[in-house]
Amino acid sequence: MEYQSKIKPKQESFTKVAPKMDKLVLSPVGYPLKAGDESSPYLSTDDPSLFQHYARSQWIGLVVKKGNFLFDSLLFPDYAFRAITVEPKESQITKNTRIQLYTEQKINPGHKISKQQLTYTDVIGQESAKEKCQIIGKFLRNKDLMSSFWAPKNILFWGPPGNGKTMMAKALSNEIKSSIFLIKASDLLGIYVGDGARKIKNLYSEARRSAPAVIFIDELDSIALKRNYQGIRGDVVELVSALLGEMDGIDSNQGVITIGSTNQPSILDSAILSRFEDLIEFKYPNQSERGEILKLYADLSPIPFNDISWDIIIHRTDHWSGRDLKEKIIKGAIHHAVLYNLSRITQKELNDSLQKAKIFDDTFSYFS
Ligand SMILES: Nc1ncnc2c1ncn2[C@@H]1O[C@H](COP(=O)(O)OP(=O)(O)OP(=O)(O)O)[C@@H](O)[C@H]1O
Ligand SMILES: [Mg+2]
Repeated sequence: MEYQSKIKPKQESFTKVAPKMDKLVLSPVGYPLKAGDESSPYLSTDDPSLFQHYARSQWIGLVVKKGNFLFDSLLFPDYAFRAITVEPKESQITKNTRIQLYTEQKINPGHKISKQQLTYTDVIGQESAKEKCQIIGKFLRNKDLMSSFWAPKNILFWGPPGNGKTMMAKALSNEIKSSIFLIKASDLLGIYVGDGARKIKNLYSEARRSAPAVIFIDELDSIALKRNYQGIRGDVVELVSALLGEMDGIDSNQGVITIGSTNQPSILDSAILSRFEDLIEFKYPNQSERGEILKLYADLSPIPFNDISWDIIIHRTDHWSGRDLKEKIIKGAIHHAVLYNLSRITQKELNDSLQKAKIFDDTFSYFS
């Protein structure tokens, strides 16, 4: 395996004859240098030209050939990208190189919803969150409104797991034309003290550069803990104060909106919590919403559901989240049908799937 150093090579290596690079396609890899860490930061932007600018600014001058790894040194130090297309082969990145981020097309038989197509209407219920996202969209589209001090600034999505907070952020990213940075809070924690605070600073300055922009910080509770818990990790204190500083903003019209997401607002640092001007609750789906969610995902199944009495399932799933309904009931029934080569799914498979999910839940609550 060949690794391209993130440290820019000395000038002499540039003098070796390398043609100017016309095109570079990078595939996100993760952290190949961190043993046992296969997670990738959940950061994406729908703005290819922003990615190009970001990539050029840190790798300009590097001579790259197909298969080389390029290491991020700004937002995610040591995060690697692999060069999968280099034109001409073994050439040098210049300020004119076209750089693209390759995103794998997942083939999902029968599944019509993809991240790219996700819209507000795919999220069942959660009307106040949809309204808030529409307001954000209107501000982002109107420069004057966005630069006034009435612009939305810090909003918190909160509620029990699996009820569409992350899904709504993805729908928002598809509905707005502006840049959106989707990030998992735990990915902001670094190995060394100071890493996290630096990542926050870089994240916000990158967002300001591409303003108007939205930063969505998922699973905020993993970093923004109450003061008395912050001592568990020394760097969390720094991280929280860096975040507080960015949420306040030096002036109100920097064009960056922060959306935090948590299912445990009660454990959040009170200073962080008080910065959120709006707390949007994501509730468990009610009866009719449960019906809509079940039917939505049943319709997307590669194996058809036949003659189902949905009411039986709806009545037995009070306080089940959208994720539970999709992942435990619908997916459970589909897996059963795949195992036994069934050409259709009937009430029996669905009831079995519900029964199994209930046993799983009971067992789990026994241990928790
Ligand atoms: N209201 C909903 N409408 C349609 N699908 C939903 C809804 N809520 C959840 N789902 C399904 O469940 C999946 C998980 O939801 P999501 O990840 O958005 O939950 P979350 O609120 O972010 O949970 P967590 O707090 O655990 O991060 C979604 O990708 C979607 O498939
Ligand atoms: Mg989530």
